[in-house]
Amino acid sequence: MNMEVNKMAGAVLGSLLAVMALGVFSDAIYAPDAMKKPGYDLPAAQEGGAEAAAKPAAPAQPLPVLLAKADAQKGQADTKPCTTCHSFDKGGAAKIGPPLYGVVGRPKGSVAGFGYSDGMKAKGGDWTFDDLNQFITSPKAYVSGTKMSYAGEADAEKRADIIAYLRTLSDNPVPLPAVAAAAPAAAPAAEKK
Ligand code: HEC
Repeated sequence: MNMEVNKMAGAVLGSLLAVMALGVFSDAIYAPDAMKKPGYDLPAAQEGGAEAAAKPAAPAQPLPVLLAKADAQKGQADTKPCTTCHSFDKGGAAKIGPPLYGVVGRPKGSVAGFGYSDGMKAKGGDWTFDDLNQFITSPKAYVSGTKMSYAGEADAEKRADIIAYLRTLSDNPVPLPAVAAAAPAAAPAAEKK
């Protein structure tokens, strides 16, 4: 009897996994152009808008504060979905996306021989923590016409963990941004949890 239930649960879990895997792969296969315009734009409005709607209680925290308490190891685990397309190894080769070792502080769209989108090529500047945060929040909102077919990570703490992990992928990690000394927002946030 119990065995039967276990088998059924297994079957349900199995098919859920299969459906999720299909989602990942079809994302990888189908060009992102189908969804040029998602339901909303969020380059600047995201802090108060989508974020606040999803988690009404948590006040938005500045990235330096989140980075100061971020966990690179958790970040590594959270980059599982990225590994379909990216190598994180030193000297790693391009996959569907460019290799990401040393990406923090690297000029955008600069891996030689990689076929970046025009939007990425036109973006300019180096990958700062802040730019990475915006890009990972919503690749399509940050780089119009990006070839990175990844929906984005809505959870600011997870993004900080991911960025903290990316920062470690360097012979000479870029220093973390300074946390404003008496940031009033930092006090209550540090207390909760
Ligand atoms: C479905 C494949 C795919 C997935 C999944 C994916 N990426 Fe990408 N990524 C790309 C492609 C393709 C590009 C090049 C984008 C362009 O040219 O517009 C890219 C570009 C990037 C860049 C810019 C690199 C540079 O050299 O300028 C960063 C940073 C990045 N991705 C981080 C991530 C992170 C972090 C994740 C996981 C949270 C992730 N990507 C998931 C395909 C992917």
